[in-house]
Amino acid sequence: MPCKLAAGNWKMNGLRADLDELHKLVAMQPGPECGVLICPPATLLAPMAAIAEGSHVQLGGQDCHTDSSGAHTGDISATMLADAGARYVILGHSERRADHGEASSHVAAKARAAHTAGLIAIICVGETEAERDAGRTLEVVLAQLQGSTPDGANAANTVIAYEPVWAIGTGRTPTLEQIAEVHDALRAAVPDAGMSLLYGGSVKPGNAAEIFALDNVDGALVGGASLKAVDFGAIIAALDAA
Ligand code: 13P
Repeated sequence: MPCKLAAGNWKMNGLRADLDELHKLVAMQPGPECGVLICPPATLLAPMAAIAEGSHVQLGGQDCHTDSSGAHTGDISATMLADAGARYVILGHSERRADHGEASSHVAAKARAAHTAGLIAIICVGETEAERDAGRTLEVVLAQLQGSTPDGANAANTVIAYEPVWAIGTGRTPTLEQIAEVHDALRAAVPDAGMSLLYGGSVKPGNAAEIFALDNVDGALVGGASLKAVDFGAIIAALDAA
């Protein structure tokens, strides 16, 4: 059975002054079985690990290199993330695919590195608005899934996040039917039917419950609404109740 996961992606946001939000999350009820995850900028990973130690809140990175160490200025390895206290790493986010030209084959190599380092890879897929308008959503998403998921991926080491590019940070979400259509297709296509499938893109306290009520939605990957514990806490509670 897939387990429920509420994951927060802080993206390039967060200074030490924001560690207070993590203190608040740690003080909240434990939430769903697979737990609560915060993926902060790498600069906050170590201080967050100290705060979250022994709590229900887990930590993750937002990207990793394919190598475990070496001459790659500015990059961070999966081994380093694990060493700093991460349990997960987000890979192939559309912002990285767009800003850094990451192809699915590159994402798969990063996921392999994450698995080798003992991290759970959260592999992101999602169509652009033009692709949806052209009726290509399932084709694009399933091709990204196939190309980005390495051999050996299973429910214990991999989570899939469906994030329509046009829904990220825009306040626009697909209809529930559109989310269900993609998640049902992902469930049929993942190499291990027990993999958790997260929805991401403008998830908020006000729309979380109806999204979590869908059969093949096992949680969310939340951007903006994960930055404040009060909002993320409401999303976690909605997932717990689903
Ligand atoms: P928002 O929740 O801000 O739309 O971001 C979603 C996202 O990209 C999470 O990875």
